Amino acid sequence: MAQTKLGYIASFALLVGVGACVAQNEMPGPSEGAKIYADNCTACHGMRADEEGILIGGQTAPDLSMISARNGGVFPRAAVLSQIDGYSRGTHAGQVMPAFGAGLTEQSVPVDVDGIMTPTPRPLAALLAYLEDIQK
Ligand code: HEC
Repeated sequence: MAQTKLGYIASFALLVGVGACVAQNEMPGPSEGAKIYADNCTACHGMRADEEGILIGGQTAPDLSMISARNGGVFPRAAVLSQIDGYSRGTHAGQVMPAFGAGLTEQSVPVDVDGIMTPTPRPLAALLAYLEDIQK
């Protein structure tokens, strides 16, 4: 319970401009995304998302805590969302991730994507919150 509360507080801190009332259809917090990350992303991006992994074929899975740093200090939500979304459709690093794809049918939450409130599948929104939270 305390963890859920923390998650809400964190998502408020993250999201200026999303309504003030707390509900299931609001932006999830980083802790929710951390779980999804642990289940789906660590194989390539590392346990804490701040390592570079080398994949078969010499392709590098980038350090996900440096996305803002690589982008002039701005976290590019739209680009990150489409990267993860593309992953779920099997284009991200040429892999398919069935568990995550199934999650896409879940409820959507409104996410401020570079200034536009965009209905976004909850697991994607949670991953976004997590990645945004771990930026250095
Ligand atoms: C099969 C290995 C693999 C898995 C699993 C994987 N990724 Fe990636 N990821 C990569 C590779 C390789 C790249 C860089 C090449 C590319 O863009 O496809 C990348 C790039 C990214 C980027 C772009 C980073 C940037 O700086 O622009 C994001 C964001 C990302 N991954 C998020 C995730 C998330 C979230 C998950 C889990 C849902 C995940 N990845 C799972 C291999 C993987």
